[in-house]
Amino acid sequence: MHSDFVPESVETAPRESTDTSEPTSTPLPAPRWDPQQYLHHSGHRTRPFLDLLARIPALPGPSGAAAADTAAAGGARGTRGVGAPRTPVVLHGPGTRPPARIADLGCGPGNVTTLLAERWPDARVTGFDLSPEMLAQADKDHAGTTPGGGWLDFRPADLAHWTPDEPYDLIVSNAALQWVPNHPESFACWIDGLTPGGTLAFQVPGNFTSPSHALLGELCESPRWRARLRDHGRRYVHILEPADYLLRLTDLGCETDVWETTYSQLLHGEDPVLDWVKGTALRPALTALADDEEATEAFLAEYRDLLRRAYPPGPHGTVFPFRRIFAVARRKDR
Ligand SMILES: C[S@@+](CC[C@H](N)C(=O)[O-])C[C@H]1O[C@@H](n2cnc3c(N)ncnc32)[C@H](O)[C@@H]1O
Repeated sequence: MHSDFVPESVETAPRESTDTSEPTSTPLPAPRWDPQQYLHHSGHRTRPFLDLLARIPALPGPSGAAAADTAAAGGARGTRGVGAPRTPVVLHGPGTRPPARIADLGCGPGNVTTLLAERWPDARVTGFDLSPEMLAQADKDHAGTTPGGGWLDFRPADLAHWTPDEPYDLIVSNAALQWVPNHPESFACWIDGLTPGGTLAFQVPGNFTSPSHALLGELCESPRWRARLRDHGRRYVHILEPADYLLRLTDLGCETDVWETTYSQLLHGEDPVLDWVKGTALRPALTALADDEEATEAFLAEYRDLLRRAYPPGPHGTVFPFRRIFAVARRKDR
């Protein structure tokens, strides 16, 4: 697959279109997020985060320090907001220590941020996000102290400009960087903000050429919708291919582990792919049409019909394959 990475300047310009009018020059409004809608598919959305967590290496520490990560043994049960999925049990051996300061970039409603606190309950974990709706939900459901003596908090930040405000042992991001044009340009600064041996770990969707997302882009650029939506159909398509992430992060002096997985997801209910996309990729289009209920309904009906043809329900539900790209980059200081 080719790289879907798009430079920042393209963010406000129209995509390929037969429309000959002038390109948009004003910045687009931030998409309005709906935490409840997003959480409809939290099981499938959490799985890749657990797979990412499982690959995060231990931090170097003084020999014999931090003998075992008791957090991993389930010490955080009872932590406010910690949900059903259990994080993998990982023990930190002699000479290693668990991360004490963790940032979660694009934390959304905080449901995966809280898994960080579950795994490392004495850590101080901060989730950063741009969406007031997501931050309010995260704060309500998950903020507070953890039984291990750590805490979870959530702060507003635009990842396009975020720089580490203090040294972090671990910076993670799950399903968020695809919204941030030029995020690879921030890697050097983020890695610089890690403690020696610290890790930058992220996961981004890699399915933007799949029917669900290709059809959305085409519909937004179709004659009926392009005047209102042409800039909104592919606003989240800012990723590199795995080999490009590998080279960039290795160039920055990291021990780097990059891989991809396609999850064969089985979704249930009526129009489940539409319901999935309503939580994420559709946010910009829905935000742009928010003041026009009739247009919203008409647009959703057209998209729904396209999705029904692309993802017909089967005897066990609707199969919705989802490719994701993972990167774990450890500073090689020690
Ligand atoms: C698909 S959600 C992922 C949420 C969470 N990380 C998870 O895995 O459930 C993407 C999140 O990225 C946030 N986001 C998008 N662009 C952002 C930016 N420029 N700065 C900060 N957050 C951003 C959105 O507000 C949203 O909460």
